[in-house]
Amino acid sequence: MTCAVAMRRVKTIEQSIRDTDEPEHRLRKSLSAVDLVVFGVGVVIGTGIFVLTGQQAALNAGPAIVISFILAALVCGLAALCYAEFASTVPVAGSAYAFGYATFGELVAWIIGWDLVLELTLAAAVVARGWSAYAQNLLDLPTNIAGDNAVVDLAAIFIVLVIGVLLVLGTKLSGRVTGVLVAVKVAVVLFVVVAGLFFIDAANYSPFVPPAVPAEAESGGHAPLIQVLAGLAPSHFGLWGVVAAAAIVFFAFIGFDVVSTTAEETRNPQRDMPRGIIGTLIIVTILYAAVSFVITGMRPYKELNSAAPLAEAFDGVGATWAAKLISLGGIAGITTVVLVLMLGQARVFFAMARDGLLPPALAKVHPRFGTPWIITIVTTVLVAALSGFVTLSVLAEMVNIGTLFAFVVVSVGVIVLRRTRPDLPRAFRVPGVPVLPVVSILACIWLMLNLPVDTWIRFAVWMLLGLLVYVAYGWRNSRFARGEPAALTATTVEPPPGEPSPGEPGPGDPTP
Ligand code: ALA
Repeated sequence: MTCAVAMRRVKTIEQSIRDTDEPEHRLRKSLSAVDLVVFGVGVVIGTGIFVLTGQQAALNAGPAIVISFILAALVCGLAALCYAEFASTVPVAGSAYAFGYATFGELVAWIIGWDLVLELTLAAAVVARGWSAYAQNLLDLPTNIAGDNAVVDLAAIFIVLVIGVLLVLGTKLSGRVTGVLVAVKVAVVLFVVVAGLFFIDAANYSPFVPPAVPAEAESGGHAPLIQVLAGLAPSHFGLWGVVAAAAIVFFAFIGFDVVSTTAEETRNPQRDMPRGIIGTLIIVTILYAAVSFVITGMRPYKELNSAAPLAEAFDGVGATWAAKLISLGGIAGITTVVLVLMLGQARVFFAMARDGLLPPALAKVHPRFGTPWIITIVTTVLVAALSGFVTLSVLAEMVNIGTLFAFVVVSVGVIVLRRTRPDLPRAFRVPGVPVLPVVSILACIWLMLNLPVDTWIRFAVWMLLGLLVYVAYGWRNSRFARGEPAALTATTVEPPPGEPSPGEPGPGDPTP
């Protein structure tokens, strides 16, 4: 009963779009496809390539990690097309949460919002841990306070707090600073590829796909669900290992979906949104494939299981100066990723609070700084606590299952919206509906099944907890429940006089 009613609480797409047309909330349409690609590359390249490449080569795929990256890229490419259609049909900021509200109603919107916490909060924590590993490598910090073996990762907590303060103060990073950070990051990745070529030893590529080895007994819960369902003995490496690694390095692509949230600010979304999203994916896929190929050629894959593998690969071949340079670039480049993810989380929480699904007091805007400060502090504390105490791989797997689930919902949404609202103008249309979205759904589920059993258990517990919170709070307190059709779009903030709308690119938002 509750479910049926909650499913009927649908915020109309017209309402969402009308809201964005209100003069005080109208965003300037200034972004081009190139801007979107710069933004995308800035958000996407982070801990995934700087840390997980080495770890997954060492644990699951060997030199075939390059294949894992390509598999993950293909899955992302399918989902990316669905995001592009949604973003061009419902061009409101607010990501999958806003799409969910418009297509499936309040309950699904809540589920996605709750699920996005996994993508954004946890991913910010993962990326902060990657930052810490590279800071440890550069500054030789004690390993008990920085890096993946830290008991309490003080370096990660430090960077999260600094970014939290910046976000509360609304310090806007200029497009120029962001542009420089993105350029530094891409330069470091290119440096790894070009300099690394000189240290490749072809012997390291053999065997390219290491033969499967049985997983240790105690790691049973860590076996991919699909292996358990298929009744296979849990193993590492082999072809299953290559796919299991794809499910984890998928993390490295997360963020391209954030590009879709700028649809409202794009000059020609029909042409530029798909170009921006797909362009980002193509560039990062080429960079990732090149880096993983070079790194596994430089060192035997078994030696790459470190928290800062790119830097340590150079350390290992005696090029310590290069290792330091990579750490420095890594730190600079990864910082923007933490910032954007925390900003994204604050926006989604904010949207949910404005819709009454979380206590509205959380959505208060600071009278002086014009930022949603309470929600930003809550986000900062959550991210800091997680990054301080939970290891990177556990967090990353949770992020992946949460993000893949959001991709599934968005892909289903494309099919549903084509049927329920065929009349809507669609600036970009996924070719071959429903086949392509169905393939996208299956591909995402397939990667999800390749995640470990214990990740699935944690995910189920988290989603169940979300349902309980909805029944206990949102169900009674949402704007719909109180008879006020959500008059506000998912992300609008009432700006204090004289301040720009926080619905505009937010504090530190690296929109060029
Ligand atoms: N894709 C981002 C990273 O790898 C989240 O850090």
